[in-house]
Amino acid sequence: MKGLIMSRKVLLVGDGAVGSTFANDLLQHVDLDELVICDVAKDRPVGDSMDLEDITPFVGETNIHPGEYSDAKDADIVVITAGVPRKPGETRLDLVNKNVNILKSIVKPVVDSGFKGVFVVSANPVDILTTLTQKLSGFPKNRVIGTGTSLDSARLRVELAKKLNVPVDKVNSMVLGEHGDTSFENFDESLVNDKPLRDYSEINDEVLSEIEADVRKKGGKIISNKGATFYGVAMMLTQIVKAVLTNQAICMPLSAPINGEYGIKHDLYLGTPTVINGEGISAVIETKLSEEETKKMLNSADKMQEVLDGVNL
Ligand code: 2OP
Repeated sequence: MKGLIMSRKVLLVGDGAVGSTFANDLLQHVDLDELVICDVAKDRPVGDSMDLEDITPFVGETNIHPGEYSDAKDADIVVITAGVPRKPGETRLDLVNKNVNILKSIVKPVVDSGFKGVFVVSANPVDILTTLTQKLSGFPKNRVIGTGTSLDSARLRVELAKKLNVPVDKVNSMVLGEHGDTSFENFDESLVNDKPLRDYSEINDEVLSEIEADVRKKGGKIISNKGATFYGVAMMLTQIVKAVLTNQAICMPLSAPINGEYGIKHDLYLGTPTVINGEGISAVIETKLSEEETKKMLNSADKMQEVLDGVNL
């Protein structure tokens, strides 16, 4: 923290499109003392550190440098974006085996460094990799967070705002469950201008199914047009890291440890409203779901458990 004794340090693992966009966003949103960038492609963090330090005269001084996992020792947060990204036509679950191996090569050395902070994961499939980060690290569950359905929820707010022609900040609506093909919208609890979404004359079941499909397909559409998605998820990471570093509690739909919520029997992370603060996760919220939505949540959990059962740790 600039000017105070406490210092804020983040170690970023994965300096691809998501990682470097997040680094840029973070420096613009949070006073940070040190940002360490790690990547298996050693040249990238060297180049990105040099490139990013050029913004410090305008956003504030931060020591930005390439580093190793051992630098996590005194970091507050380790952000994991590293992984093989989706190619056009691939689902997030297609990535699981490749990205579990990458995850294993990261979590162990980070823990061995003596790291005592919070892991924040955005690599896909995010619910699976967040669950495995907790298992591999042995960390308390509140100190591992995944971006979950925060990005899907942002996309939903954008679509509803366009449909109803209202400012996006007046739309309060969430996507829950898996960040992937079994996600679902919590429409019954959605508010627009503080009024229930379903009270709007433009809204009916058909319109909502179209919006649901558009939101679910948006990531794939971005990938088929520009090869990758990164601005959205980088901003979700920034919001999470900012809340933890500044100890300012916020509630977002994130990949959080499920402990019987919604009747889920599995021990895993899944998208649900989550309160985070300086400790990491301070509360996992079981929000109100309709009968149909509860079935979708249980289906998401079953699907994730099926994938987890097939993972060789
Ligand atoms: C997204 O939804 C690919 O998970 C990433 O943008």
